[in-house]
Amino acid sequence: MNKISRRKFLGIGGAGLAAAALAACAPPAILPIPTSSTSGLDDGPAPTTPPQKAPTTTPATTASAAAADVEIALSAIPATVPIFSGQPTQVWQFQGEVLKGDAASLQSLPDTYLGPIFRLNKGQRLRVNLTSQIPRETIVHWHGLHVPAEMDGHPRHAINQGERYDYEFEVLNRAGTYWYHPHPHGLTGPQVYAGMAGFFLVSDEEERAAGLPGGEFDIPLVIQDRLFNSDNQLVYLSNGMMDQMDGFLGDQILVNGQPDFTLPVATRPYRLRLLNGSNSRIYKLGWNDSAPLTVIGNDGGLLETPVQKPYVTLAPGERVELWADFSDRAVGSEMVLQNQPFIAPTGTMGGGMMGGGMMREGSAALPLGERYPILTVRVERQSDERSPLPERLSTIERISPQDAAQTRRVALRMQPPRGWTLNGRSFEMTAVAPDEQVRLGSTEIWEFVNEGGGMMGGMMGMLPHPMHMHGEQFQVLERQVDRSGRAAWESLSAGFVDGGWKDTVLVMPGERVKVIRRFDDFTGLFLYHCHNLEHEDMGMMRNFEVVSSA
Ligand code: C2O
Ligand code: CU
Ligand code: CU
Repeated sequence: MNKISRRKFLGIGGAGLAAAALAACAPPAILPIPTSSTSGLDDGPAPTTPPQKAPTTTPATTASAAAADVEIALSAIPATVPIFSGQPTQVWQFQGEVLKGDAASLQSLPDTYLGPIFRLNKGQRLRVNLTSQIPRETIVHWHGLHVPAEMDGHPRHAINQGERYDYEFEVLNRAGTYWYHPHPHGLTGPQVYAGMAGFFLVSDEEERAAGLPGGEFDIPLVIQDRLFNSDNQLVYLSNGMMDQMDGFLGDQILVNGQPDFTLPVATRPYRLRLLNGSNSRIYKLGWNDSAPLTVIGNDGGLLETPVQKPYVTLAPGERVELWADFSDRAVGSEMVLQNQPFIAPTGTMGGGMMGGGMMREGSAALPLGERYPILTVRVERQSDERSPLPERLSTIERISPQDAAQTRRVALRMQPPRGWTLNGRSFEMTAVAPDEQVRLGSTEIWEFVNEGGGMMGGMMGMLPHPMHMHGEQFQVLERQVDRSGRAAWESLSAGFVDGGWKDTVLVMPGERVKVIRRFDDFTGLFLYHCHNLEHEDMGMMRNFEVVSSA
């Protein structure tokens, strides 16, 4: 049915128009992954820098190494991992090693492309020596962490193969589920897709006092979608420009890098930390038996109190933490966490509102808004552990709108020929518009407006945009949706977890979302962008500059 409506759309020349609108766009970036061939990850032009080149100098000085509590060597390297039976899959991944400090600061995961899990305490000083062996420029960004501009993994700091970048910062964030991934301009999508991502978990006193399940009962789970060819190799942007405009969608769900993921559990409570590490796919997550979800945390750590949800909506970049109590389940029983049906906003190709808005011809992509399994929980053993769900999890100080120096408006807009833009602008490496300068120490409201409307907007402007800000976390103040977007919005909105601290917020078509945050501690260039990685790579990203008020 979706294919039929798409053909119809093609028939009236929609594709021609869309393509014409994009003809002046930058061509797809040189990708590490073949778009449709079966060749390996490492084909393409030779690296611009030979591997033996001396390390570049970076802002952190060796003198400060002594002050670091934990020092980690992190490398980006090509590797092969077993994902399916038969041929292993070529990936790019992060590998790490603790050089100094607690060896438990890094937890390596076997048989997956995912990077090691960083486990730090608030207040620790971390030093990371990043080296790269991949044949493209790269840089690591610590998603959700509040770090100095030079430590944030801005694309202007990207390194080539054989080069090195030294990070050093204090972990200022409260306990929470953060993550790290590459951020080179135009290449974030393909590099995350190729396997480069990992968790960055922070603990603190307040979290420990909450007495949540720990150790093997505290489980980080990253949900991603991928497309594989018959040789088990990753395929990216098989639909070229349309994949870029809409965002890439795969046909295979991977959890922690594995297909058909099954979590063996005991009859007791668990803390499940979910990260949507997909390039563009939005999930509406619920149990197959309609059991409600108990949400205890989101992007910036624990909520004040647990919240019951019929399902949770998780857009790319977002995290949600669940208290999942399997005490009443019978040993041998199974539960399936699945994607629930929702109205998928129409993409570039306008493939019909219901169910599979982004279904494309020639692609077996899983329709966005249909029911499909994410992971299976299998109750395997009895446990008598019955620790109760804490009534109070943390304390969150609300930022008052009265404290905001101003409200800035950011229009999320389709602007041919450039594609998706922020206030009509595309990313420029170091440019900052006058309305993108923020005073150090100030509090501001930012309003993200997903416009839609207009001729091109009407055709291509009906996509959701998960908006992310670097630096400090924000609080969601309010959401408003207009008539055009209401039906799709209502099919997902009960799953928004807007309490607490956030760094990424889904802005649906026709919706405006106001967030409030502080801009403390660090001056310099930081990014705000859509976390649909194909949108980000096409330039739906801008700098903001925190300037000293002196
Ligand atoms: Cu997770 Cu600027 O990104
Ligand atoms: Cu980020
Ligand atoms: Cu977007």
